[in-house]
Amino acid sequence: MTSPVLVTGGTGRLGRSVVARLVEAGQEVRVLARRQRDTQPQATFFTGDLRRGDGIDPAVRAAGVIIHCATSTLPPPGHTEGVRTWDQFLAEELAEHRDPAARVKSA
Ligand SMILES: NC(=O)c1ccc[n+]([C@@H]2O[C@H](COP(=O)([O-])OP(=O)(O)OC[C@H]3O[C@@H](n4cnc5c(N)ncnc54)[C@H](OP(=O)(O)O)[C@@H]3O)[C@@H](O)[C@H]2O)c1
Repeated sequence: MTSPVLVTGGTGRLGRSVVARLVEAGQEVRVLARRQRDTQPQATFFTGDLRRGDGIDPAVRAAGVIIHCATSTLPPPGHTEGVRTWDQFLAEELAEHRDPAARVKSA
């Protein structure tokens, strides 16, 4: 591969490994994510948000190949409907599973 490779989510768990392997192989690498953190110094970082569409064009224009490693398990900023804290999740979802015998009796 000679064209620069863009790794979306190149700062994440999977993306970081992909970026490290590419750099090790002598590949020119671009990284796209919302925040710069622990990016390989040999890679060029682009700030962008795939959900909002900000900053994608310059990163894509600078690449010949794209490896998509970005993901988000969090809801978009400001979206709170249906979002629960871990404590709420435990209280609401798991409470009934703590006493399986009680569930069988009530069935
Ligand atoms: N980890 C594994 O062992 C593994 C194994 C096989 C498959 N996978 C799959 O690989 C994918 C990535 O998983 P991961 O564990 O690496 O996740 P992760 O550590 O949470 O990394 C997510 C990456 O995506 C970026 N990102 C999130 N939202 C973004 C947005 N809106 N725009 C641009 N970048 C965004 C994050 O940076 P910012 O938050 O700064 O934007 C980060 O770089 C998932 O689909 C997962 O199922 C993971």
